[in-house]
Amino acid sequence: MSVAVQIVPTPEDLASTAANIFASQIQEYPDSVLGLATGSTPVDTYARLADLYENGLSFEDVTTFNLDEYVGLRQGDPQSYHSFMTTHLFDQVDLDPSRTHMPDGDSEDLDEACEEYERLLQDAGGIDLQLLGIGSNGHIAFNEPGCAEDSLTRVVDLAPETVAANSRFFDSEDDVPGQAITAGIATILSADKILLLAYGENKAEAVCQALAGEITSDCPASFLQKHPDCTFLLDAKAAELLTEQ
Ligand code: PGA
Repeated sequence: MSVAVQIVPTPEDLASTAANIFASQIQEYPDSVLGLATGSTPVDTYARLADLYENGLSFEDVTTFNLDEYVGLRQGDPQSYHSFMTTHLFDQVDLDPSRTHMPDGDSEDLDEACEEYERLLQDAGGIDLQLLGIGSNGHIAFNEPGCAEDSLTRVVDLAPETVAANSRFFDSEDDVPGQAITAGIATILSADKILLLAYGENKAEAVCQALAGEITSDCPASFLQKHPDCTFLLDAKAAELLTEQ
């Protein structure tokens, strides 16, 4: 079993290629269950999907599940991933709000919120196509180095390097929540198909570790080597250590 790798020249090519893969999925199966991600990486992919919606692609029968959400931010907080998704995708296309799912990081009972997320995912029949980014420390969703391969949706502490990286979205590093709810490695690996996106040289090392290194929780993305239908879609810079090999 090995991960497929597709390399495109630029981040713009990456976004249009990823959007076309998602559009094909929706055209073929209009009631697809999509796994969605946040962060800088998918922003332009969502913009291209919004363009495709303007040109006739309908999301009305699609169900979505987002991978993660900060603990302790209200849904409407501008820094929440819920707000991110509303801005970049949910308000741009005809998704039915009752079919968009995010972990509830503002729940009074976070463990119950995690169980509820897994339950909803099972009830929906699982993810047909999962979009992923990768952290420069190799994390996928908020599964940080050291996470368990059999992990399900749970509350996690963010690694210091993740807090530092994500502080660019906040006024200061102190404002970044220290915890999140994240879909687990096992949750992610249960998707039928996975598309991981990465661009830029600061992802090159993690991409190389994930694809060419041993399978180890030191690089959580390396667990994707065990998936039967996973593709890494990379720009030239994110792929530069692979092509040097
Ligand atoms: P980024 O984050 O898209 O903002 O680089 C990716 C990730 O941490 O998974």
